Amino acid sequence: MSERFLTRNIPAKREDRKTLSFDDYVATGGYGTLKKALLMSPSEVVDIVKTAELRGRGGAGFPCGLKWTFLPEPDGKTRYLCINCDEAEPGTFKDRLLVDFDPHSVIEGIAIACYACQLDCAYFFMRGEWATQAKIMQKAIDEAYAGGIFGSQGLMHGSSDFAVECTLHRGAGAYICGEETALLEAVEGKRGWPRIKPPFPAVKGLFGRPTIINNVETLAAVGQIVERGADWWQSLGCKSSVGGPASYGVKLMGVSGHVNNPDVFEIELGTTLRTLVDEYAGGMKGGRQFKGAIAGGVSMGVLGPDQFDAEMDFDIGPKYNVMGLGTACPTIFDEGTDMVAVARNIARFYKNESCGQCTPCREGADWIYKLLCRIEVGDGSMKDLDQLLEVAGSMGIMPGTTICGLSDGNSWAVRTIVNKYRSEFEDRCKPSLVAISP
Ligand SMILES: Cc1cc2nc3c(=O)[nH]c(=O)nc-3n(C[C@H](O)[C@H](O)[C@H](O)COP(=O)(O)O)c2cc1C
Ligand code: SF4
Repeated sequence: MSERFLTRNIPAKREDRKTLSFDDYVATGGYGTLKKALLMSPSEVVDIVKTAELRGRGGAGFPCGLKWTFLPEPDGKTRYLCINCDEAEPGTFKDRLLVDFDPHSVIEGIAIACYACQLDCAYFFMRGEWATQAKIMQKAIDEAYAGGIFGSQGLMHGSSDFAVECTLHRGAGAYICGEETALLEAVEGKRGWPRIKPPFPAVKGLFGRPTIINNVETLAAVGQIVERGADWWQSLGCKSSVGGPASYGVKLMGVSGHVNNPDVFEIELGTTLRTLVDEYAGGMKGGRQFKGAIAGGVSMGVLGPDQFDAEMDFDIGPKYNVMGLGTACPTIFDEGTDMVAVARNIARFYKNESCGQCTPCREGADWIYKLLCRIEVGDGSMKDLDQLLEVAGSMGIMPGTTICGLSDGNSWAVRTIVNKYRSEFEDRCKPSLVAISP
């Protein structure tokens, strides 16, 4: 696929990229889609997004239009949109591309979503470490105010009576603040501790008010869907081959690791990982063999050596035994990669990033890390390996022992690596301890 939609204003060559200002964006026809949306009723805009079956691009893949319909009727008091630009998932850097080079395409999506859902206050939550991106987005928000998009006069110079205020909120550097309810706590000025759901944010979110949380890429896609229509979106991507919801549209996929040309590529869902690596990311570095890949952010787990032809769509979880598509940003490993070290490195990340509220996550993450350190240096036993899998299998929303999905991410990452590369772990376990039996 050669035509690009979400990245239409971003040159393919890295050296040619620059941030589009408000004027640059308007010169490309930018904010024309907002104008179009404002000629429709809010519910008509929601219907287009719902009919397109756009699935959230932040990791969970929840249908965007459906989520919007969970909002109660407006009651005249403030309702919120939170834009999730935390993007702290290791190996994930797709939202940053839009923020760096085409921030107004995201702002246009924000304005359309606010109008459609009648949300009058938007908080753009930006990952704490991204000082440069915070400056770019603040400038773009200021330009959008000066250009009459946001502000008390009403959207788009008062084309609509509906007025939206937008504020940038910088995080303080915790991965957990990307989880939507931790994000709400952080915007409220508290420690980023996930909330127990229900109530869901659409009903009781920021400051106890109805709130929609959407990913940056999701909102950029909303703009294109309203511009081009639901049929157009459904003409791209693929239906499910396992009887699940479809994977329509295009997706930003950031490829990193052992490839010649790591970058973000916009491709149709359903494209195989092999095509993504060979035809987009310049092939395996040094012509070395593919050994595996983090499927889409470490939380999703890994694709094994025989899964290079996995289709990158929302069926990837059940078909290839990973948690899901996640952010669709794979990190590629070549034949020389030490998978025990990979597992230990990932476990260290989760040990550091667990917020500590739930015992299985807090203690489990620590135990997994300790066991992997022991196995990596050759001091582990087969019993340690079994214990590692037992601990990992007991933590997460899925076994029902934790509040949020950070723990599931830890569990899937560790279990898929151990299960798909088990012999590498067994080879590190002490032979004398392997021989011991009860
Ligand atoms: C530990 C954890 C971290 C997350 N980090 C992000 C993130 O950085 N960006 C994001 O959009 N979603 C992240 N999510 C998913 C959000 O909770 C939420 O599903 C998403 O922002 C909803 O937007 P969407 O429906 O447009 O995808 C994370 C979830 C978990 C459990
Ligand atoms: S699962 Fe982990 S990160 Fe999530 S709330 Fe519980 S302790 Fe915090």
